[in-house]
Amino acid sequence: MTPPGRVAPRRLRKSTTREPIIQEPDVHEAAETPEGSVSAGSAVSAEPDATRREAGVAESSRANRGWWDRNADEYQIEHGTFLGDDRFVWGPEGLDEVEAELLGPPEELKGKDVLEIGAGAAQCSRWLAAHGARPVALDLSHRQLQHALRIGGSFPLVCADAGDLPFADASFDLACSAYGALPFVADPVRVLREVRRVLRPGGRFVFSVTHPIRWAFPDEPGPEGLSVSGSYFDRTPYVEQDEAGRAVYVEHHRTIGDRVRDVVAADFRLVDLVEPEWPAWNTSEWGGWSPLRGGLIPGTAIFVCERD
Ligand SMILES: C[S@@+](CC[C@H](N)C(=O)[O-])C[C@H]1O[C@@H](n2cnc3c(N)ncnc32)[C@H](O)[C@@H]1O
Repeated sequence: MTPPGRVAPRRLRKSTTREPIIQEPDVHEAAETPEGSVSAGSAVSAEPDATRREAGVAESSRANRGWWDRNADEYQIEHGTFLGDDRFVWGPEGLDEVEAELLGPPEELKGKDVLEIGAGAAQCSRWLAAHGARPVALDLSHRQLQHALRIGGSFPLVCADAGDLPFADASFDLACSAYGALPFVADPVRVLREVRRVLRPGGRFVFSVTHPIRWAFPDEPGPEGLSVSGSYFDRTPYVEQDEAGRAVYVEHHRTIGDRVRDVVAADFRLVDLVEPEWPAWNTSEWGGWSPLRGGLIPGTAIFVCERD
């Protein structure tokens, strides 16, 4: 089965366990991984089945953590060049924070405490640090953060679930997330409330997700990805599961209206909703995101939220 809007290249997973701050950089393990191999985490014995079924907070978290641990190497090999080590790219369209300024003018980032959620290899945090901000890069996957260590940077990396942030109230001026966490969680309001809690009054949270319209289409970059194949209104999660029926990857769908309601339910104000257009310079494909589809339907939605 072709997933409706799969963010990850081939297959993924995650868990709710709160992890300590990473202390032991396993730089060599990550750096010496041969191209194309996936060495982290335990192997999945057989090709999982893809289905649509309910998946709760704990199951989604556990499944996605495992997926990202197993597939981080492949993900970074496949997308690392496009992402750049220290660029801040909001999605496969290539919209760059340098031009978008969704977190505000870059010159005003100096000295700001910024939390990046679902940071992966922390490319965005590296860009923030280069502009004088004080980023903290948080991710559920230990292996993704090992890639952050491999690339380098002098800011904290925290292995934790976005639904249970290990920070005191009002610790950050800004928060951001480029496709991190929110496409994968069963309870997005919980994540939004956590982010609001750790933001200072007047703080801003900007997050990108797969544009909800993509759920109704096959996740294919070519013409086969242009015909509606399912209901936009069907919120049943996309689940890949092993032979025992255990989820090994989960993606959750929210309609645009759901996302707006989630933001409001978490007591944020929605100040902008950006739908980046596919630029002529970008000839790259990223899974189901392609110049062909990007010229016709949006692929990314970016929510700009503020707390009072
Ligand atoms: C598509 S990647 C995005 C990472 C990075 N922004 C990028 O563009 O490469 C999604 C990231 O979200 C992380 N993630 C998934 N669920 C999460 C959760 N509940 N809490 C924190 N991070 C999560 C994954 O481990 C993964 O690194």
